[in-house]
Amino acid sequence: MILAIDQGTTGTTCLVVDDELRPRGRGYREVTQHYPRPGWVEHDPDELWDSVLGAAAAALDNARIRAQDLDAIGITNQRETTIVWERLSGRPAHRAIVWQDRRTAERCRELPADLIRDRTGLVPDPYFSATKLEWLLSERESSDLAFGTVDSWLLWKLTGGEVHATDVSNASRTLLLNIHTLDWDEQLLELFGVPPAVLPRVVSSSAAIAEAQLFEARIPVAGIAGDQQAALFGQACFRPGQAKVTYGTGSFVLVNAGETPGSDREGLVRTVAWRLDGEPAVYALEGSIFITGAALQWLRDGLGLLGSVAESEALAGSLDANDGVYFVPALAGLGSPHWVPEARGLVTGLTAGTRPEHLVRAALEAIAYQTRDVLDAMRLELEVVRADGGGSANAFLMQFQADIAGIPVEVPEERETTALGAAALAGLAVGTWSSQEEIADAWRCARRYEPALGREDAERLLAEWRQAVRRALLG
Ligand SMILES: Nc1ncnc2c1ncn2[C@@H]1O[C@H](COP(=O)(O)OP(=O)(O)OP(=O)(O)O)[C@@H](O)[C@H]1O
Ligand SMILES: [Mg+2]
Repeated sequence: MILAIDQGTTGTTCLVVDDELRPRGRGYREVTQHYPRPGWVEHDPDELWDSVLGAAAAALDNARIRAQDLDAIGITNQRETTIVWERLSGRPAHRAIVWQDRRTAERCRELPADLIRDRTGLVPDPYFSATKLEWLLSERESSDLAFGTVDSWLLWKLTGGEVHATDVSNASRTLLLNIHTLDWDEQLLELFGVPPAVLPRVVSSSAAIAEAQLFEARIPVAGIAGDQQAALFGQACFRPGQAKVTYGTGSFVLVNAGETPGSDREGLVRTVAWRLDGEPAVYALEGSIFITGAALQWLRDGLGLLGSVAESEALAGSLDANDGVYFVPALAGLGSPHWVPEARGLVTGLTAGTRPEHLVRAALEAIAYQTRDVLDAMRLELEVVRADGGGSANAFLMQFQADIAGIPVEVPEERETTALGAAALAGLAVGTWSSQEEIADAWRCARRYEPALGREDAERLLAEWRQAVRRALLG
């Protein structure tokens, strides 16, 4: 049995996964979002850790096993979120700065974009860790401080402060890792004023990484990957050209790019997908869309238009068409393919006949349009995309996605692919599975959505959407 820890933006999910890669127990704890100022988003690192302990205990309980029965732990996490803590006391020096946080937008404007693209595969956007770390270090004397993304922080806590490491997929989101050498880049460390002493060691995503002490048991931590890379692994996208979209808080389109970072693509980023022990790293081409499911949460919590996000399916389906209403959910700037941190959201096409259903439908449609914009930027001939995450439960959204993208969308039986990916990485390292083929064999399609809308209709909708996006970009 493997314990998969998925520390996400909205909450922490833990799964106990059996030798067939099936969940046997589940635990969940929500995480508090702190918004100290407009555009700022923070988490309490101690609360993140407590949520892991709570969700892990619940998952073990639910599976009716003890920690002693676990063969390994796999960790996957919200990426880029930046934590700094005191090495001696183990206390966080500040709240975690979450990936959605825009406080460093100004700083990003003066960064050398070409150098950053070449070295890291990324773009100078407040989304990534380095400017957040720079901000945190400017608040404090850096001697005795440790930096980590959420994987590092959890590993540190799991090992009682013994191990300070990060896996290469998480490291590739910091703006500090050279994606060609897979090592911290000295010039970038200098650029951001990061002393090497604060950095974690970079390790493989599937290996004997450390020994954790959890509920009195000693268990190897054998897998670590960022949530989107773990989902790509959990979706068994092992061959170059295989793609997945995860519909969570934001949506993230990742395509396996093989064993080289590949060439730069405007509007997208290149990232490390994973590295198995003793093997070359595998890379991915990625489109990062910041706000998708979060727009539905905002319609629910901010505007009170929805009782639950699940209601969105029936409400959107109650209309025959969008009646020209478009919602550009730039609630945290725009990521791929625009990368405009200052962009603000807007709704266009309102009339006196516009009802809440229109806004709900526009929010769901926006998820699909944004994904199509990313797929266009990729310029790849994809045969199919595999979908997962909360939004993949929504049949209206999945059908509309297939219609707008013009390619089939497959939803697997197990939609917790992020956690399953972390379990798979850990299980490969401890011998639960001997090869990736076994993981691929365990993947089962539950539902396939075929494009049904005429191409002309799809292109007309897309043109209207892009008109609305242009307005949002004008500010
Ligand atoms: N039925 C649904 N239709 C559309 N969207 C949904 C539905 N159910 C959940 N979502 C959206 O999915 C998101 C949650 O998905 P998921 O549970 O995969 O996210 P998560 O893993 O918590 O996200 P993250 O890792 O970013 O924290 C929420 O933003 C929610 O609005
Ligand atoms: Mg998640």
